[in-house]
Amino acid sequence: MKALVLAGGKGSRLRPLTYTSAKQLVPVANKPVLYYGLEAIRDAGIHSVGIVVGDTAHEIREAVGDGSRFGLDVTYIPQEAPLGLAHCVLIAREFLGDEPFVMYLGDNFLVDGIAGLVEAFRGSGNDAQILLTRVAEPQFYGVAELGPDGEIIGLEEKPEHPRSDLAIVGVYTFSPAVHEAVRAITPSARGELEITDAIKWLMDNGGRVRSHFVSGYWKDIGRLQDMLECNRIVLEAIEPNVRGTVDGFSEISGRVLIEPGALVENSVIRGPAVVGADSKISSSYIGPYTSIGARCVLENADVQYSIVLEDSAIRGVPGLTYSLIGRNVEVSRARGVPNTHQLMVGDHSRIQVRA
Ligand code: TTP
Repeated sequence: MKALVLAGGKGSRLRPLTYTSAKQLVPVANKPVLYYGLEAIRDAGIHSVGIVVGDTAHEIREAVGDGSRFGLDVTYIPQEAPLGLAHCVLIAREFLGDEPFVMYLGDNFLVDGIAGLVEAFRGSGNDAQILLTRVAEPQFYGVAELGPDGEIIGLEEKPEHPRSDLAIVGVYTFSPAVHEAVRAITPSARGELEITDAIKWLMDNGGRVRSHFVSGYWKDIGRLQDMLECNRIVLEAIEPNVRGTVDGFSEISGRVLIEPGALVENSVIRGPAVVGADSKISSSYIGPYTSIGARCVLENADVQYSIVLEDSAIRGVPGLTYSLIGRNVEVSRARGVPNTHQLMVGDHSRIQVRA
């Protein structure tokens, strides 16, 4: 069995972060979300992985390399434009050969991994297996409708009026029969080759398609609130460990991981939280559900329920909460009068200030 990981796409909902970097490399508890997926694939006993890459190919290649670090053998499959999930299967034909495979969307996160799903598929004789979970806003997802015996009776991609609240999770398993399906379908109204159309084609043409419910927590990190929630879930289970230096004027409580080279002075950190390698935290408060990346500086700052990426600095700013701060960002207090805000922010940024 092989794996096909999708790490191209536009990432438009996470702009401006995705102007400069790949959505799949945004860290959750200081580890790129894509790494969790690759580890889940390895833990399911799969070795050969094709990664579909788009505009951010260079960055993904640099982060994952040949895959040996994860115990995987990785092949890169360039996609000229984000033409849809089924298009990814189409262009991966040669890599996939005639083996069954698991298709994993690189921005998805499953706490319980995929070993159970892959095991259920092996030897089942199914042509496609989809994973379902109940969501509050099904209109943003592929949605499945089930019949009285749990059989799939309908599939729709991001429907305006969903017929159920059952979202399709971004991990699918397929037999080689899917190759004929992705060749047979045509682009949808939004110009993409939809995987839901390919699965429907399989159902209409005698293929065996089954669904399972996700047992544990699942999220796709397409939006800010999803990322922050995913970060919270991972931090809740983090192994507390002080590997950096904490001075005697600081107070650390709860699950807190302080990575090597980090320095904490005269500060309070209430976990769950992680402070990245070589960061410097002084006279600051870090509250629950916060990930501070590597080489950050916090001085007289107060941050909680937030993600701060590498090489950023926050100085003299209290009350930062529910925030996602990118790489190499500086947030600091404006000096003098009048009491103004001074901003230089990229396109598609979102800033909420208490004026
Ligand atoms: P999506 O989240 O559906 O799309 P997107 O990444 O373009 O994001 P947005 O909706 O915010 O613009 O994609 C799911 C995953 O599949 C994601 O990891 C990107 C990847 N993908 C591809 O690799 N190629 C594609 O053609 C598409 C549509 C997605």
